[in-house]
Amino acid sequence: MVTIVGARPQFIKAAAVSRAVRTSFPEMIREVIIHTGQHYDDDMSKVFFKEMEIPEPDYYLEVGSGNHGYQTGEIIRRTEETLLAEKPDVVLVYGDTNTTMAGAIAASKLHFPIAHIEAGLRSFNKSMPEEINRIVCDHLSTFLFSPTLTGIKNLIREGFAEHAKPPFSIDNPGIYHCGDVMLDNALYFTDKAEESSHILEELDLKAKEFVLCTLHRNNNTDSALRLNAIMDTLNEISRGRQIQFILPLHPRTAKMLPVILESGLRESIKANPFFRVTAPVTYFDMLLLESRCRMIITDSGGVQKESYFFRKPCLVLRPESEWKELLEAGTAVITDAEPGKIKLAFDLYYSQPPDLFPPLFGDGKAAEFILGELVKFLAPGLVK
Ligand code: UD1
Ligand code: UDP
Repeated sequence: MVTIVGARPQFIKAAAVSRAVRTSFPEMIREVIIHTGQHYDDDMSKVFFKEMEIPEPDYYLEVGSGNHGYQTGEIIRRTEETLLAEKPDVVLVYGDTNTTMAGAIAASKLHFPIAHIEAGLRSFNKSMPEEINRIVCDHLSTFLFSPTLTGIKNLIREGFAEHAKPPFSIDNPGIYHCGDVMLDNALYFTDKAEESSHILEELDLKAKEFVLCTLHRNNNTDSALRLNAIMDTLNEISRGRQIQFILPLHPRTAKMLPVILESGLRESIKANPFFRVTAPVTYFDMLLLESRCRMIITDSGGVQKESYFFRKPCLVLRPESEWKELLEAGTAVITDAEPGKIKLAFDLYYSQPPDLFPPLFGDGKAAEFILGELVKFLAPGLVK
């Protein structure tokens, strides 16, 4: 089995499956990890392998950053070479990045079956590069593992057969509702994070008295209007309410802020003791921040879900979300980059935090389920 990863959220998702290989299928599955190098800074890559005990990648392709054509093309080219050398029974890809789509293109052209973990998610907004990556990857996959029922519905609407009969293939893929491997991790690692993270002391934060923010989506970072509107609003709320706002900054945003942020706003943020911008934090630090904060404000897909795992209200700095269940449950709200909506939602959630978080993402054993299903098809003789 080959696992293809390259970006931060994929290291985190793959950690759950890699752990399940070692604990539940050590005799049956040999995992080979390909790291495309899409993310490469230590705090965007290495730190997760170490902290979450993911085995060192067997191949590091060093593709790095670039335009979509360059990055996608190089991942296809370099992944193809390694897949030809490894000849895997199945190729695992995660989520919706360029690594996901390029890995799927390389594997499908070589006729290696693909298992897509986080299949079926749709924003219905094809101006997002991730939406294109999701659609292409799903249509090249043999095993579609969807964390939510909305994902399953989306696949059926796109023409996938709900009750396809094995043997599964790229032309007759199997659809599974499997829960979320990110919940597996949140449950598994929270105690370890409690023991080893000192982020609250380091940032002098008190439980329930701070707001956690993340911001990296390209339509926010690359638009002067949106980036200034979001940063101005976070600055204004934190200063006005005298509540700590913590923003661990993705390198994409860190590179754009000095270019795009209006100089008056930059100075105002610098002088605001309630608004702190830091380097990206580790996964354990993130778990601690998420579990102790009062509220989360984000444009991240993964952080939206984690807000739910930790029963925190979430403001979504995007025009829509793939995680419809959270919006329906009323625990997350779309504010886009609109100051009025952000302020209104903040006030509402601050005074009346939601308290109902029915289980939506499985039982913390999604990775075992996924591997169990794959083994049934790929090594039926080994299954009791
Ligand atoms: C990518 C994914 C996005 C995902 C995000 C997770 C695509 C199209 N986008 O976005 O879906 O939500 O990862 O974090 O695949 N950079 C560094 N150091 C790094 C990595 C990136 O400085 O280690 C900077 C570079 O300037 C680079 C920019 O960030 O050009 C963007 O990186 P890229 O991987 O292209 O996209 P992300 O915005 O990270
Ligand atoms: N994350 C982290 N450190 C940070 C920011 C995020 O460990 O400074 C984790 C977060 O807890 C989640 C994942 O990264 O598990 C989400 O990745 P990201 O927001 O980069 O991408 P997305 O989920 O939007 O694709």
